[in-house]
Amino acid sequence: MKKILDLISQEVMDAFAACGYEASYGKTGISNRPDLCEYQCNGAMAAKKKYQKAPILIAQEVAAKLQGNPVFEEVNAVNPGFINLRVSGDFLADYILKMQADRDLSVEKTAQPKTIIIDYGGANVAKPLHVGHLRSAVIGESIKRIARFAGHRVIGDVHLGDWGLQMGLIITEVRRRQPDLPYFDESYTGEYPAEAPFTISELEEIYPAASARSKEDEAFRAEALQATAKLQDGVRGYRALWQHILNVSIADLKVNYDNLNVEFDLWKKESDAQPYIPEMVEYMKREGYAYEDQGALIVDIRKETDTKEVPPCIILKSDGAALYTTTDLATIVDRMRTYRPDAMIYLADKRQEMHFTQVFRCARRTGLVSEETGLSFIGFGTMNGRDGRPFKTREGGVMRLERLIAEINDEMYRKIIENHDADPQEARETARLVGLSAIKYGDLSNQASKDYIFDTDKFTSFEGNTGPYILYTIVRIKSILSKYRENGGSVEEGHILAPSGAGEKNLMMELVKFNGTIEQAYEELAPHKICAFIYDLANAFNRFYHETRILGEEDAARQTSWIELLDLTRKVLETGIDLLGFSAPERM
Ligand code: ARG
Repeated sequence: MKKILDLISQEVMDAFAACGYEASYGKTGISNRPDLCEYQCNGAMAAKKKYQKAPILIAQEVAAKLQGNPVFEEVNAVNPGFINLRVSGDFLADYILKMQADRDLSVEKTAQPKTIIIDYGGANVAKPLHVGHLRSAVIGESIKRIARFAGHRVIGDVHLGDWGLQMGLIITEVRRRQPDLPYFDESYTGEYPAEAPFTISELEEIYPAASARSKEDEAFRAEALQATAKLQDGVRGYRALWQHILNVSIADLKVNYDNLNVEFDLWKKESDAQPYIPEMVEYMKREGYAYEDQGALIVDIRKETDTKEVPPCIILKSDGAALYTTTDLATIVDRMRTYRPDAMIYLADKRQEMHFTQVFRCARRTGLVSEETGLSFIGFGTMNGRDGRPFKTREGGVMRLERLIAEINDEMYRKIIENHDADPQEARETARLVGLSAIKYGDLSNQASKDYIFDTDKFTSFEGNTGPYILYTIVRIKSILSKYRENGGSVEEGHILAPSGAGEKNLMMELVKFNGTIEQAYEELAPHKICAFIYDLANAFNRFYHETRILGEEDAARQTSWIELLDLTRKVLETGIDLLGFSAPERM
């Protein structure tokens, strides 16, 4: 469906044209003075020069042309040349009815669907998920859903970190603890055990221990480097042990991401890109893009327009080892061959910005992607605690994601039980849904690139700009609708009338912004625009609700209209939160 703002602009543009002015001056926007009008056109001021005429005269002519236009209820020319507009209730109701009948609630699917890969999550195997991974998963999941809703083919890839020194460290620590395992016996030719020699909790304890040891113990570190090389060279026992690490870790990650309502289409890993490296390096050398510099193989990626230094992209270190950058480039080769994406979007901490600048420039310069392939990096800021420093546990340690979720859920459970006596099992499930909304909305309502403060009290509150407030609003609507049904009513479509009061009109005016909001959120890859929209919509609904006795209304047609308006509001809110990656309970 066309956006309402475009329909309104069209009317005003036609009026400019009918008065002998260029139509483009009629472009109209939402008023920033809602006390004076709903929409506003400033074109008369812009037209002054061309027509050598006082803007107010132009505005008056156009306003006169618009008198009697059924789209508007009020048109005023105001000094020095504004055209202030209010839309008619009939026009608004007509738009709302069309929105109600539209499967996608007025959002038009793109005419040119693109294939987009979103690289998010980015967990590292064998390391517990901590709050630093939360943002990547939460923002990436939302962007994936927004792009899909806009009509694109979107592939989400978790791109696990499973390569490099971290793996060598773990293997070496396992060896130190269990030296007799067959994986370390190079003469062993039999089958390796099917069972992993560690559980997930052991594994999660092994990595930090190994990492700490490598900082103190030079010999241990050397051994870990060697183990890394052996793994990468494909030594059988090391590969088998690594496979166990992957299996145990991925099974656990799946549970964690599942709890976050985050779903990946691909569970690809850094290691999957390794087979593409030799061929890619050969190609870069052959075509003259990559050359040796102090033993390392590099690609120069500077641009004349650079204002700050962009270091060359190192493809291979002087010892021949590949780097994080090399893996990302080889992953691009793999993706281009396998999926031919039109765009790739990456989520990672904003401190990785230079890394992605290098990868993107190198990929373009060396022709791994075409000129048209979109490459974008969404760098997110840090999630801080109330002290303004990176979020920690109360004891000052790294906060595991599981623990954060558990703490929030407990807090929500306490509040739910306190509110009314609920069945404990149902309250637990509700607490899980509301807790997730608190975490995700708290994150997504901030612009991704900014640092934000994770404030448990604020995020779990049922009041203010929070996830629980949005869910509370949805549940309130659901409860009115179910009471209406219990009283014998049925919720249908197609009976919404022109608004009967200011609060109702205001609610409609918020609803009609839905398609424009989604379009903008997709174009700017900005879920926070959806948060702002649903917050305004929830507020508009609550205002309407407080000034209206819906279930007690005697005029049946009016009541039917309100019920349908409520149901539409519910649908828009529920679609909105689904795009943010959470959902509402039936009761709370
Ligand atoms: N595993 C990386 C980390 O923890 C994030 C991966 C981001 N994606 C990528 N293609 N580099 O920092």
